[in-house]
Amino acid sequence: MLTDQYNRVHNYLRISLTDKCNLRCTYCNPIDLPRGYFSHSVKMSPDEIEIIAGIFVAQGIKKIRLTGGEPLVRKDAHEIMHRLAKLPVELSITTNGVFVHEFIDTFRESGIKSVNVSLDTLKSKKNQIITGRDVFEKVRDNIRLLLEHNFHVKINTVVIRDVNEKEIPDFVALTKDEPLNVRFIEFMPFAGNHWTKENVFSHKEILDLISLQYRYVPLHNDIHDTAIKYKVPGHQGTFAIISTMSRPFCSGCNRLRLTTDGKMKNCLFSKSEADILGALRQGQDIVPLIKQCVWEKEEALGGQFTTIQKNPDASKIQNRSMIHIGG
Ligand code: GTP
Ligand code: 5AD
Ligand code: SF4
Repeated sequence: MLTDQYNRVHNYLRISLTDKCNLRCTYCNPIDLPRGYFSHSVKMSPDEIEIIAGIFVAQGIKKIRLTGGEPLVRKDAHEIMHRLAKLPVELSITTNGVFVHEFIDTFRESGIKSVNVSLDTLKSKKNQIITGRDVFEKVRDNIRLLLEHNFHVKINTVVIRDVNEKEIPDFVALTKDEPLNVRFIEFMPFAGNHWTKENVFSHKEILDLISLQYRYVPLHNDIHDTAIKYKVPGHQGTFAIISTMSRPFCSGCNRLRLTTDGKMKNCLFSKSEADILGALRQGQDIVPLIKQCVWEKEEALGGQFTTIQKNPDASKIQNRSMIHIGG
């Protein structure tokens, strides 16, 4: 078991397949973010991903989520999913949705049942402004396609004040006839993403806005959930809020991360990283490295900042950009 000093057991691994993305979302991969992708040779190969994931699974990992960048831009994404399908884990993926139609069979063949799709606005023009690309219709179509094929679909909506908060009720309206789980995510600070605390639209503000139009009820939450779930009675779908900035959920954290260059992060905001891929390539046993990395996990938020109510100083956070972490 992968247990840390705070008695948290870690059974969920997020593997970033690439630091590349076909979109340029302002909060994640803005156009002014210094480019410089990892070269092919420093990235984990399908073989290495399979070996490393297998070792994590032997240590107690029960769920693997593939992330990016955009995981589906990686040419060997099909192969990687097929390989990971052999492991006794729940496999899932977070994607921007643009290439989903090319992966329906692969998702099914790999046992993926749940797909998280990022979508921050229901307006085509605004989507183009946020993502830098004209992809809204494609993503909407692909969300419908996933539902038609009976995948469980969660929509990730990063809420930024003065950008898209007014659309929150429209996203809740979407849950009326479609069995979607829409998750409103508080805007988080990462290297180069122009975060300011003024732009965070908090959990409370989100609920206050929704209650102007809807009566909702809270749903049961699992201790490991990042999202606090709600439902409007009579709606097919649900909505939820991921409140890292105003109500962090670190006490129930069960997550570990592997970046595309094979570095392990014990927290989304961890300063330090363990070079798992480097050790594997040198023929070392990576298990002690993994265990040590888990053990050193900070109690909350990578030990780097506090909640929005306590004025976090984002300029002091030492971390990669979101596109290099993998979300
Ligand atoms: P489920 O497995 O369906 O619960 O999805 P998830 O929330 O783990 O994954 P997803 O990739 O859809 O991420 C949604 C949002 O939650 C993103 O903004 C992530 O950055 C954020 N998130 C995911 N994991 C963590 C975490 O460990 N800590 C914090 N603070 N945020 C996280
Ligand atoms: N704050 C909150 N969520 C973010 N994501 C990317 N950048 C941020 C940020 N700064 C979300 C994406 C994607 C998920 C992996 O992380 O929208 O859905
Ligand atoms: Fe886990 Fe770090 Fe996210 Fe808190 S901020 S939930 S400790 S990954």
